[in-house]
Amino acid sequence: MLEEVLEANGGDMIASLQIVQRTLVGAFAVVILSVEQPDMIYAIKKGTPLVLGIGQGENFLASDGTPLVQYTKSVIYIGDGEILRLSAKDFQIYNSDIQEISHKTSTLEMELSMIEKDGFDHFMMKEIFEQPKTILDSMRGRITADFSEVKLGGINKYAPQLYNANRYLFLACGTSFHAGMVARYVFEQWCRISCEVDVASEFRYRKPVIHSGDAIFAISQSGETADTIVAIEEAKEHGANIFGICNVVGSTISRVSHEGAYTHAGVEIGVASTKAFTAQLTVLYLFGLKIAQSKGTLSPEQIKQYNKELLAIPNQVAEILKMSAEILEISKTLKDAHSMLFLGRGVQFPIALEGALKMKEITYIHAEGYAAGEMKHGPIALIDENVPTVIIAVKDSNYLKVISNIKEIKARKGKVIAIITKGDKDIPGIADHCIEIPETSDALYPLLTTIPLQLLSYHTANVRGCDIDKPRNLAKSVTVE
Ligand code: M6R
Repeated sequence: MLEEVLEANGGDMIASLQIVQRTLVGAFAVVILSVEQPDMIYAIKKGTPLVLGIGQGENFLASDGTPLVQYTKSVIYIGDGEILRLSAKDFQIYNSDIQEISHKTSTLEMELSMIEKDGFDHFMMKEIFEQPKTILDSMRGRITADFSEVKLGGINKYAPQLYNANRYLFLACGTSFHAGMVARYVFEQWCRISCEVDVASEFRYRKPVIHSGDAIFAISQSGETADTIVAIEEAKEHGANIFGICNVVGSTISRVSHEGAYTHAGVEIGVASTKAFTAQLTVLYLFGLKIAQSKGTLSPEQIKQYNKELLAIPNQVAEILKMSAEILEISKTLKDAHSMLFLGRGVQFPIALEGALKMKEITYIHAEGYAAGEMKHGPIALIDENVPTVIIAVKDSNYLKVISNIKEIKARKGKVIAIITKGDKDIPGIADHCIEIPETSDALYPLLTTIPLQLLSYHTANVRGCDIDKPRNLAKSVTVE
């Protein structure tokens, strides 16, 4: 198309790109090299990210800041409809009316060391082990010293819209969607308000009913997931207020949201999301507490108690990480599995889904996550001695029901790996393998139960010889719909 338009426009690249840009449908980022101008690069974009890195005597283009940090920290995020002309020495940016515009340069807030493996074999393992720090970083400065209050610096002008919303809706994809599912359980319990959660790619196409008073949490590690961006646009058109929960500073979702809060997980390189997930959960818990406080649906004592328990989580995660070698031994028993089930009830159901997602992503073992109560409605037919089940069986309000599930699986000769609360005397007598985690309150358990599941997937992928950081067919940021 560009060749034809160029010919019709006497070879004027900028004018031709303006026409092409307006004609193209959908999301794209296009970088053009012309034999006529070998020292020049042109670029246009819509919907998908494009970052210009400004070096000394050299300039760069990338789809996000991470690959640029080893060359430069000065970047410009190119906007939709803009046209970029770039040489090694300089660059010009034009708006859609072909007027040259100037952009503020942003500074990447990351260090080269953040994208190195620090002695770990894989980024995923490094990132799993970073979680005591990243969870703490995501809470840092957000809980007052006397534990009585949560402070979210990113919520200002839109605070009334957040606290007085008629409904909370969580939109996201993949692992971030699972964080949204956890939040739905927790917000309903703490804030006593109607909550919904939806996969962003489904939301837009099911003609959702959105009211102007709705508060929407858009959750994304990269902040560049095309499905989530499109869902936000749809919701904004209907007057909803968008609160972004992103990890990448300056990313598209953080910019198109009305307000929000960053997770402070640091750069996540492994395609399988780990530390970003627990950071998302942490920030969502803080939002839940803040809203509950404003609504008075939790007492000041309850808020204090939850804040104290949240602050204890990083050390508890560190304790679980010490069991990595033990979990490796369990993983060896999964080496030849073809299919697995992951079960959990209540707030642990999304964690079962997340455990199954992690397992299938990096080990290629077929893994299904199910609400444990649904087992008898179908999946129980799958169970035999060759289909191991991972079940989250911590001592929460669903404990006794989950024990029944374990017994049902054992009665069908299924192997059971149970995530249990430290000191549990009953499940070790029934399950084949148990992984003990420390105790916390029901709502906060997901921050702990997810850790052994990450380790289980990692070790299983490793014993199966899989390419853990770059699983087949997957990309870190899914910037196409
Ligand atoms: O960057 P996002 O959080 O928006 O990404 C959403 C999903 O693409 C992502 O979580 C994906 O499912 C991961 N590979 C999960 O490990």
